[in-house]
Amino acid sequence: SNCSENCSYGALMVQKMRKEPQGWIRSVRSQKEVLFLHVNDGSSLESLQVVADSSFVSRELAFGSSVEVQGQLVKSLSKRQNVELKAEKIEVVGNCDAKAFPFKYKERHPLEYLRQYPHLRCRTNVLGSILRVRSEATAAIHSFFKDRGFVHIHTPVITSNDCEGAGELFQVKPSSKIKVSEENFFNVPVFLTVSGQLHLEVMSGAFTQVFTFGPTFRAENSQSRRHLAEFYMVEAEISFLESLQDLMQVMEGLFKTTTMTVLSNCPEDVELCHKFIAPGQKDRLEQLSNWGADLHTEHEKYLVRHCGDVPVFVINYPLALKPFYMRDNEDSPQHTVAAVDLLVPGVGELFGGSLREERYHFLEQRLARSGLTEAYQWYLDLRRFGSVPHGGFGMGFERYLQCILGIDNIKDVIPLPRFTHSCLL
Ligand code: 4AD
Ligand code: MG
Repeated sequence: SNCSENCSYGALMVQKMRKEPQGWIRSVRSQKEVLFLHVNDGSSLESLQVVADSSFVSRELAFGSSVEVQGQLVKSLSKRQNVELKAEKIEVVGNCDAKAFPFKYKERHPLEYLRQYPHLRCRTNVLGSILRVRSEATAAIHSFFKDRGFVHIHTPVITSNDCEGAGELFQVKPSSKIKVSEENFFNVPVFLTVSGQLHLEVMSGAFTQVFTFGPTFRAENSQSRRHLAEFYMVEAEISFLESLQDLMQVMEGLFKTTTMTVLSNCPEDVELCHKFIAPGQKDRLEQLSNWGADLHTEHEKYLVRHCGDVPVFVINYPLALKPFYMRDNEDSPQHTVAAVDLLVPGVGELFGGSLREERYHFLEQRLARSGLTEAYQWYLDLRRFGSVPHGGFGMGFERYLQCILGIDNIKDVIPLPRFTHSCLL
């Protein structure tokens, strides 16, 4: 190849450790004896332009077919790309039945339409961009924590606790083919985790600063545009942390650093997503709820708009609304806990966090009131043996992507969404 070092655009696939450029045809165009193909392998938004003479024209070289091309990589005369491939040989690896293929050349299909084809939509430009941003953001989040000395923990997916106490659990049972009876496999009822927090608290009691980033599950009977049954959560837990301010700094740092990295590493993908932002989706609410009632989606949206469409921290929620583990602000007249949510434009709640109740007797009472004392002896132990003030948070990863990409529906920012009445493939 005579491609110079800096000709990255469209030539990404050539630089990879493969013999020949391979990919899927994104466009076919014939112009005066010359055939132009755009071939994309998903490594970037940019396709490689393949130029061939008209002897190559065939029905098989169609939108959607997979091909392998041999030829010379040359500087392109067009301003739209730095390089192009002058084809000497084009092999169709698998042809594509254009009539049956749900996507048509040159059409911009709405995201709702693409959602019907979870197994094929990743081949479109927009899903390609979203999922590359997702990959980039994942790496950026891991770097953020690594750079600050956090230890990454694999928290279990199967658990016997309901961390949030909301009862939105999927129960796990062995299939009826397994000889051990349902009840006897683990001896206790077990569930898919709703949050790794309690396990992270175990680990922050040894490693000081820990994080986990994995799938979490909630049996929320919701078709909303911000709930999934299976979603990814970024969770951090920090020992020797005494104030919500310190916790909010980490939350803010995570949001800003990850976003800056994504914007600088994949600007083209982010820009393409922004073209899909749905206008006029937002509804207004006239008044905020009374004290004591929880915030619902509409209240959260209102708060964010009221504050000028910027992210907003909401702190010190009523104790009665929150799980047993949140630290009692015992001097507060309205009896609150040291909780913090971060609400963001277009999405609402993005982060949920709190200081944890590290005082044995306070925790013991809270557990007793919820009838959890027996099941949480191990959790009380953490307060008996070298307890420290600590706190942490969880950030919904799909909601984060929705927020930075302006994608209205959460089902469009995860490769294969699972939600009520839908677990295709
Ligand atoms: O506010 P949540 O329920 O907090 C916890 O689970 C804490 N134990 C986390 C912690 O402190 N370690 O959930 C955290 C975030 C929410 O703010 C939201 O962004 C996201 O998880 N989330 C969901 N995202 C998609 N689909 C769902 N069904 C979600 N439920 C929560
Ligand atoms: Mg929450």
